[in-house]
Amino acid sequence: MAEINLQEIHDLFIDVAHEAGRMMLTATPSHLSSGTKKNCLPPFSPPLLLQLTLFPAADLVTETDRAVEKMVSTRLLSSYPTYSFIGEETFVPGDPTTALSDAPTFIVDPVDGTTNFVHAFPAFCISLGFTVNKVPSVGVIYNPFLDELYTGIKGKGSFVTRKGGVKEQLPLRKEPEPLVDLSTCLIGAEWGSDRTGVNFDLKSKVFRKLAASKDEGGAMVHSLRCVGSAALNLAYVAAGQQDVFWEGGCWAWDVAAGWCILVEAGGIMVSGNPGEEVTVDGRKYLAVRGANREGQKAIVEEFWKVIGDGKLVYGS
Ligand code: IPD
Repeated sequence: MAEINLQEIHDLFIDVAHEAGRMMLTATPSHLSSGTKKNCLPPFSPPLLLQLTLFPAADLVTETDRAVEKMVSTRLLSSYPTYSFIGEETFVPGDPTTALSDAPTFIVDPVDGTTNFVHAFPAFCISLGFTVNKVPSVGVIYNPFLDELYTGIKGKGSFVTRKGGVKEQLPLRKEPEPLVDLSTCLIGAEWGSDRTGVNFDLKSKVFRKLAASKDEGGAMVHSLRCVGSAALNLAYVAAGQQDVFWEGGCWAWDVAAGWCILVEAGGIMVSGNPGEEVTVDGRKYLAVRGANREGQKAIVEEFWKVIGDGKLVYGS
């Protein structure tokens, strides 16, 4: 295989991200043009409004998600026909042709933060990741509403460009504050779309324990933020605007781009379950911003202690 040109892929990603952004901004999403994702599909197809009433769901998908993914896959694969492509809207659970492999792979979420997009809450983006041997090697995240572009290339650092202005290296603080313990942290965390069972119970317990006062056995973090987009959460941790992001249930396309950007900004990614190995498609993640290594390690250990004996459990 010819040598992989990460810079060229990064440049193409930026162009594709801007085209996707234009598509998102001209779309007028509403519940009428949205449905639910694969894991919640009803066994028959009543009109969409009725579907949403009969099968209340938190994992919305719009026509824009599908149209953007089509545009992205067409453009990426016409430039790189031998590379693999995994996209949120065309992923088939259990199908080996859409599973992550060691091959050079584009991993794309056409609209991350679809619920925000549907509600016109300004935190949605396209997330374009590229992995080689399952290692995130290029990442581009673009929020068209705020015109914020986050980029990273393995070994070359990561950056943000806001409103077409100067390209700023991440993290934004050149000398990040040392991390000490969770009590000084702003934490990104998400409810996700599964609202039942062990994962929901564990998330509720962990959220409570993070927020509670020390007198009540909590970590009393500065606060919790539910941004509604895993990709943007990772971008904010890379920038140093959030200290930590914990999530279970999101997918490779939600994190591949942000993972590259985070690591290039000095951040670390470990498993969202205590002591487990983290993988791009493992669906459980704990990201910590760039800081002193001992501080990052202390935060991971303290967070895993908050989780305790609990375990997030997701299929792939
Ligand atoms: C979702 C967002 C959300 C996370 C969910 C994801 P989508 O992606 O990243 O923050 O909690 O797990 O599925 O559905 O908006 O592309």
